[in-house]
Parts: sequence; structure tokens; C-alpha cells
Amino acid sequence: MKLRRSVLYVPGNNQRALEKSHMLAVDCVVYDLEDSVSPQAKDEARDCVLWALAQENARGQEQIVRINSLHSNWVEQDVAVIKQAPVDAVLLPKITSVDDIYNYRKLFGPHSTYSPALWLMAETAAAVLNLSAIAAADSAVRVVMMGLEDLTMETQIKQTPDREGLLYALSACVMAARAGGLQIIDGVYTSLDDDAGFLNECTQAKKLGFDGKSLIHPRQVDVCNRCFSPTDEEMLWASEIVAVWEAKATAGHSVVVVNGRMVEHLHVIEARRILALANIVEYPAYD
Ligand code: COA
Ligand code: MG
Repeated sequence: MKLRRSVLYVPGNNQRALEKSHMLAVDCVVYDLEDSVSPQAKDEARDCVLWALAQENARGQEQIVRINSLHSNWVEQDVAVIKQAPVDAVLLPKITSVDDIYNYRKLFGPHSTYSPALWLMAETAAAVLNLSAIAAADSAVRVVMMGLEDLTMETQIKQTPDREGLLYALSACVMAARAGGLQIIDGVYTSLDDDAGFLNECTQAKKLGFDGKSLIHPRQVDVCNRCFSPTDEEMLWASEIVAVWEAKATAGHSVVVVNGRMVEHLHVIEARRILALANIVEYPAYD
């Protein structure tokens, strides 16, 4: 089980932010070569990202590089960076169909044995509608990242605090990801001075089934990690269920009652998932 609660984007040409990212308690860092880097700064960004990948990864963060779109003139040089400095995953933006996945593979050459894990941006209407097939096109796909800024631009969906207009796309992508055995990360929250709004959106994302959230700034990290970690209440629920189940299963029961609620084997699987997650989370002391 991989902990992917917090996934921080770092613009590839922002040297100070790259340095800073190594010190943050994020589970994953996305070194961005795409939209946060201007066309004039693409070369500089590749050099800076190579530098960042060469630094000691003391916190054991998962390191992902977001390359430019397959339809851009930059993508081949981006892939050359990845060939020089192995990464945990490549994040592929602006995809629309399974052909994108096949074309991405071609960039590594027919005899390449190097195959980093693949993360997919769900940020076009076509990607949302075709996500199951796209994700199934390559066994290296592990994670789906929602890209809501691009998606709302294309679809004219309005971003509101309750995200009413986005609920279909968010849930459709959760379904497709889970059907493919993948993890899925919600999009970014762009208001940097609205902590209450950010917490609300993280809470909603967790309810919708997301594993974590995309972040753009260090101030979002703690709230996000806390929100996507099992809560005390969830851990209590899980340990009670497992304890009762283990005691009763030996007596041959396949359905038991815990605190007045029916529990079957599937609930025990979920309870064990929560306990396993809690086991790998480092809980900071909060006041
Ligand atoms: N990763 C790591 N460190 C970051 C960071 C990030 N994404 N964003 C800001 N920081 C660091 C700054 O370097 C600064 O460090 P310092 O004080 O130790 O020098 C500190 O956090 C405070 O930054 P602040 O001044 O509040 O932010 P800013 O005004 O410089 O930048 C943004 C604001 C939004 C431009 C910046 O956070 C950013 O570029 N975020 C990522 C955007 C992105 O990648 N978008 C693509 C995906 S949608
Ligand atoms: Mg985008």
C-alpha cells in the first residue's frame, strides 16, 4: 500500500521551491516541466529537475516528473531527462485516448527495458469519458491525477465551493480508477489564503473516494496529510471490527454484529486497509 495523501507540484525552473520541496512532509513531489514552466524556461527547468533528482531523498518522497504534452515540441527532450535520472513515475498531461499511451511508449524506443510507472492526468473531457480504457492500455499505470483547471476551462463548468458542476467528472474518474485497481488524487485548490475552504475541499475529496490531493504550496501540506490519514474514529471502528471478527470467525460466524451494526467479511477487508494505512502514517503532534 502506497501512501499518497499529499502530491505537491513544484515548477521545474523554481530552484528555491525545488530545494524546499525536499524538506516538506509530502508523500509525493511532482517536478513540473509542463504548465507551470513558460516556453522560454523549458531548458532551464530540465536542468533544475535533473539537479533535484540527484539530491538525497532523505524523506523517501515519491518523485514524479510531469512531462509536456505528447503533442508539444518539448516532450522528446523531457523524456531524455527521465532516461538520464530514473524517476518513480512519469505524469502524462492532456491525454484523450489510448493512442496517447501507445505514442508515449514509442518515445522510449522499441527495446527499452526502462519503464517508470505511469501517472495520468484526467483533465480533458475525453480523458474523463475514456479513462477506463486509457488506464488499461499500459500495465505501468498506477495513479490518476485530476486536472480541474484544464477540465473546467474546456467544459465551461464553473468552479464553486461545493463543486456541484464537477461531481460527475470527479466520481466517474474515481470509478474508473478503482475498476482498474489504481489510486486517484484530487485536483489543486488555488486559493492560498483560504484554509477553511481548503479543508472543506479535502474533506469532500476523501468522502468522494480520493486517496489524496494535489497541492501547490507548502502551507497546504499539514491539513492535507491530516485529512487523508485515518482518523481516531476510523481506527477505533476498524480495530473493533477486526477484534470481534477474529474472535467470532473462529466459531464459524460469517456475519457478526459490532456496536449494533452488521459486519461481513468485506467490512473487515476495509477495516484492515485502514489499520494498515494507519500503520505507515507518521502522526505529528497537533495542538
Ligand atoms: N513547492 C515547494 N516550495 C514552494 C512551493 C511549491 N510548490 N510554492 C512556494 N514554495 C516555497 C517558496 O519557495 C517559499 O520558500 P522560502 O520562504 O523558504 O523562500 C515559501 O514556500 C513561501 O512561498 P510564497 O512566497 O508564499 O509563495 P510564492 O508567492 O513564491 O508562490 C505560487 C506562490 C502559487 C506561485 C507557488 O506556490 C507555486 O508556483 N506553486 C506551484 C504551482 C504549480 O506547480 N502549478 C502547476 C500545477 S496546477
Ligand atoms: Mg493541466
